[in-house]
Amino acid sequence: MGKAVAGLAPERGHSIHTVVDSSDNVGGRALTRERLAGADVAIEFTRPEAVVSNLERLIDLGIPTVTGTTGWTEALPRISALVDARGGALLHAANFSAGVHLFLRVAGELARNFTARPEFAASIREEHHAAKLDAPSGTALLLQRRLGELDASRSFSISSVRTGTAPGTHTLAYEGPHETVVLSHVARDRVAFAAGAVTAAEWLPGKTGVFTFEHLLFGDDA
Ligand SMILES: NC(=O)c1ccc[n+]([C@@H]2O[C@H](COP(=O)([O-])OP(=O)(O)OC[C@H]3O[C@@H](n4cnc5c(N)ncnc54)[C@H](OP(=O)(O)O)[C@@H]3O)[C@@H](O)[C@H]2O)c1
Repeated sequence: MGKAVAGLAPERGHSIHTVVDSSDNVGGRALTRERLAGADVAIEFTRPEAVVSNLERLIDLGIPTVTGTTGWTEALPRISALVDARGGALLHAANFSAGVHLFLRVAGELARNFTARPEFAASIREEHHAAKLDAPSGTALLLQRRLGELDASRSFSISSVRTGTAPGTHTLAYEGPHETVVLSHVARDRVAFAAGAVTAAEWLPGKTGVFTFEHLLFGDDA
């Protein structure tokens, strides 16, 4: 994702101030005031075991930060408290494609309509490239939580597949005795996520608080 963002940013009129990778950043130690001086915003795409210390350092330095790393939701309350205490700005999203957030909304509508149809069993399936470390995907977990809030009468179990190089597919299915209803979002290119992350990085500076991509996309209707 870092490469996809770095490839896209110049087309959008931005320059990359510095790139930090794992070799020089154990425990977030490359994220110093000196190295990041002059940066307007940080975009963080790393790994579940690295993201929290990176966010702590960036928030401490007062740099508005956009992160797309998944697999750290249990630390979100602590990181949010840190952002508030420092008067900082953080935008986090398990998925930076606009289409997936519209998919989540349509999925909610589908769930509302199926509430009174117990003969249909619901399921979520997500498929990602073989190198993706966390499973289920952050997007599948978000979908499961949202649907569970809308319809507590059934479970929304998730199955995860890791294979090949595809950027990511999420499918919600309702299977009845003789028919199936399927709603899918298919990411065809990582540029979909990189474009959303760059848009978030353009939007965040000057704001304070913790935001998701939905605040950017839907405003007060998020
Ligand atoms: N929100 C979204 O839309 C979205 C979209 C795609 C992926 N993701 C998530 O974003 C994350 C990254 O995905 P990816 O596909 O880019 O993974 P990836 O190909 O495994 O790349 C991870 C990168 O993080 C770097 N890294 C690891 N530890 C680091 C540290 N402590 N400090 C700085 N850099 C560090 C690695 O550097 P080295 O190469 O030096 O090891 C590598 O370049 C994953 O959590 C993935 O699930 C989110």
